[in-house]
Amino acid sequence: MTAILELTKVQKNFGKFQALKDVTFQLEQGEVLGFIGPNGAGKSTTIRILLGMLKKSDGQATIFGQDVWKEDTAIHQHLAYVPGDVYLWPNLTGGEIIDLLLRLNGQTRTQKTEELITAFQLDPKKKARTYSKGNRQKVALIAALSQTAELYIFDEPTSGLDPLNEKTFQAEVLKLKQAGKSILLSSHILSEVEKMCDQIAIIREGVIIERGKLAELRHLTRLEIEVTTQETLVDLQTVAGVHQLNFQDPAQHQAQLFVDREQLGPVMKLLAAKQIQSITTKAPTLEDLFLRYYEGADPHAK
Ligand SMILES: Nc1ncnc2c1ncn2[C@@H]1O[C@H](COP(=O)(O)OP(=O)(O)OP(=O)(O)O)[C@@H](O)[C@H]1O
Ligand SMILES: [Mg+2]
Repeated sequence: MTAILELTKVQKNFGKFQALKDVTFQLEQGEVLGFIGPNGAGKSTTIRILLGMLKKSDGQATIFGQDVWKEDTAIHQHLAYVPGDVYLWPNLTGGEIIDLLLRLNGQTRTQKTEELITAFQLDPKKKARTYSKGNRQKVALIAALSQTAELYIFDEPTSGLDPLNEKTFQAEVLKLKQAGKSILLSSHILSEVEKMCDQIAIIREGVIIERGKLAELRHLTRLEIEVTTQETLVDLQTVAGVHQLNFQDPAQHQAQLFVDREQLGPVMKLLAAKQIQSITTKAPTLEDLFLRYYEGADPHAK
């Protein structure tokens, strides 16, 4: 696989403040990468560096194998992006701005543009100053999505969109992916990532703390089990990989527990030996993982 975008130990200082300490991740051709982190983590700063709008303090950053700062003009010919804060020309209509944004990228309005205007239900005849936040975002999204590019970068694209338009956006990202395009998507919303991304990179306080395939990262979370057995479950207290064990009844026949993935086999064996009467398991959500990160806890710790 070819890396379309590659960041290696990127750092960014604003005076004495180090906004990015170690940002390292790659985006491969044809993949959707979710760039996830809480407010102020450094997502927009990283994206501005990628777009050549900010100069990094240290490290390497390339897109299509070219330096993002020195070769920005060449890179931008094959790149479409939507910034986190969309500012539009207040006296132009949405339609005029879409045309302008396309022209600035050497492109013109196509059938695709019209389809997007319809799909996002934008009224292109209104002046930008009358648009709500969501409508301003739609203008920028329509312009970016109707461009032909190899790499698409979206900074919190759905933060101002209602659920219906969010769905439209997700469908468009899927089409781009099917066409073999590469997409970088920043977000602090977990559900966006789960639906669209192949890979995720989690940033916290300017450091990438986790990256990889969604399926792999799920292993960091534990399986929740609720079980009722005929024999007492008191032995569970000393079993490796069992966490947050709670008995629901004094005789300890009913328990709620969390189990590490790698210990699932031995734990299930023990449960089976106790004569299971009922059992439910809950698949881990990434929400649990994020909560632990956001709280600053080590997700591997007990
Ligand atoms: N031009 C600047 N001068 C000084 N500090 C800055 C500047 N731009 C960003 N920062 C700081 O760098 C840190 C990272 O900001 P950034 O905008 O990249 O976060 P973010 O992950 O995009 O957050 P959000 O989810 O709120 O958009 C923040 O602490 C921010 O205050
Ligand atoms: Mg931001």
